[in-house]
Amino acid sequence: MFEEQPPSLQNRIKSLATEAQVQNRPYSWFEPLYAQANGNAEQVPWAKSTTHPYLQAWLSEQPQPPANGKAIVIGCGLGDDAEALQVHGYQVTAFDVSPTAIAWCQQRFPHSEVDYQVADLFHLDPSWNQAFNLVYECRNIQALPISLRKQVVGEIAPLVAKAGQLLVITRIRPDERDCEGPPWPLSPLELAEFAAYGLVETDRATFVEGETVTVQQTRIIYQYAEG
Ligand SMILES: C[S@@+](CC[C@H](N)C(=O)[O-])C[C@H]1O[C@@H](n2cnc3c(N)ncnc32)[C@H](O)[C@@H]1O
Repeated sequence: MFEEQPPSLQNRIKSLATEAQVQNRPYSWFEPLYAQANGNAEQVPWAKSTTHPYLQAWLSEQPQPPANGKAIVIGCGLGDDAEALQVHGYQVTAFDVSPTAIAWCQQRFPHSEVDYQVADLFHLDPSWNQAFNLVYECRNIQALPISLRKQVVGEIAPLVAKAGQLLVITRIRPDERDCEGPPWPLSPLELAEFAAYGLVETDRATFVEGETVTVQQTRIIYQYAEG
């Protein structure tokens, strides 16, 4: 299954993320994790060296993007999803806070037309505001503590161009009760937070994964109400 990890890796992630939270630097653990993987993608728990299947399935049903259609990939990891969007016809910008991850993307895809950049979601280039026909967010919100959720949504939503779409792939939880992470699945109210930026949910596919632990995943499309 796409989301199941060996327990040893899961425990390592939990302790790295907990320590980073205690130090009030909640995303400081990603760069060391990529660096310590030393080029071995098996040491990066979310890296599957292939397009996320829910993105792939969605793309197979989508028409070609408009000419010069731009997509941005948030927290692009090792780049497979960015490459798939580029192959589909988008001009793709893909960023990650980890310089090692970005160098790894460039090494894996040396002839890529994707514009890979090191950038921090919380300090984005203002020229990216409403600049993208497709904003693609896969499993990054859930990787950051719930206390940052409103802030994260407030950074992602403004990237969507007026007639654009936001595609979110995430774990969800059924109600507002707190949970242990990472990952910290999104609650109904947390998902509804995009409405504060004028983005309404227009499509949702739900998937149930896992043999030992049942995980509810969604792929949600948001668009502006007056798109
Ligand atoms: C759980 S991984 C998901 C990676 C990829 N989206 C995927 O689904 O395979 C979270 C990613 O977000 C990146 N990240 C975490 N905090 C970030 C931030 N503040 N700005 C940009 N990227 C960030 C991490 O380096 C990591 O690559």
